[in-house]
Amino acid sequence: MFSPGRGEAAAELVRTSPLLDLPPGSRVLDLCCGPGLFLVPLAARGHSVTGVDLSPAMLERARTACADAGADVRLVRADMRHHVEPEAYDVVLSVFTSFGYFDDPDDNLQVLHNAWKNLAPGGRLLVDVMGKEVLAGWIGRPQAVDLPDGSYIVQRDTVLDSWRRLRTDWTLVRGDTARTASIRSFLYSAAELHDLFEAAGFTAVECFGGFDASPYDQHSRRLIVTGIREEESR
Ligand SMILES: C[S@@+](CC[C@H](N)C(=O)[O-])C[C@H]1O[C@@H](n2cnc3c(N)ncnc32)[C@H](O)[C@@H]1O
Repeated sequence: MFSPGRGEAAAELVRTSPLLDLPPGSRVLDLCCGPGLFLVPLAARGHSVTGVDLSPAMLERARTACADAGADVRLVRADMRHHVEPEAYDVVLSVFTSFGYFDDPDDNLQVLHNAWKNLAPGGRLLVDVMGKEVLAGWIGRPQAVDLPDGSYIVQRDTVLDSWRRLRTDWTLVRGDTARTASIRSFLYSAAELHDLFEAAGFTAVECFGGFDASPYDQHSRRLIVTGIREEESR
């Protein structure tokens, strides 16, 4: 999930994506920043960057990555259900399927409400997930990834609750040992996530099929939804 290849891809996206083409000095919140793959290139572009994550281990990796790159980034340990710094940001990012983790749908909506509160009027939220329509195109095929040390990871996806949710199981096979991990998360169609943005107060909601700002259609590999906290709304 956090391979060096993904770090390079994140840096390339920050350099080239029209959706990440932010005015210099933007105040950016990377919600669920993980090991900081987006933090470093965002800071390198001159933005004022904060990374929030619940995992101390992830934050430690992010701290090391930022220190190694000489990136001045603020890191905060917090649960996305509760993290609110009113009007402190111009942009809130939630990338690489970091949304929809909570069993109670109201908790997922609360995350969007918090993003709305965290944004200054005129600010923008971007959520990047695996759309339900995209997943339907390839789910069911087990996927294996070989790692440089000879071990490999097998990923299996299982649809739950009439396509409301997804369970992803990973098995890491190293020599004659195997370790497993699972995540359950909500699955959203473009229409469902669009409606959730509006329920949280966002306007000018748009759906894209990738960081290149292509339309969300049958060619898409991701679902990216953006919305604005209007200047005078609420
Ligand atoms: C799929 S990873 C994505 C990380 C990062 N956005 C990236 O692109 O590499 C999801 C991250 O969400 C974090 N996370 C999970 N639950 C959280 C919560 N309740 N509040 C804040 N962060 C959480 C995890 O620790 C993990 O780093």
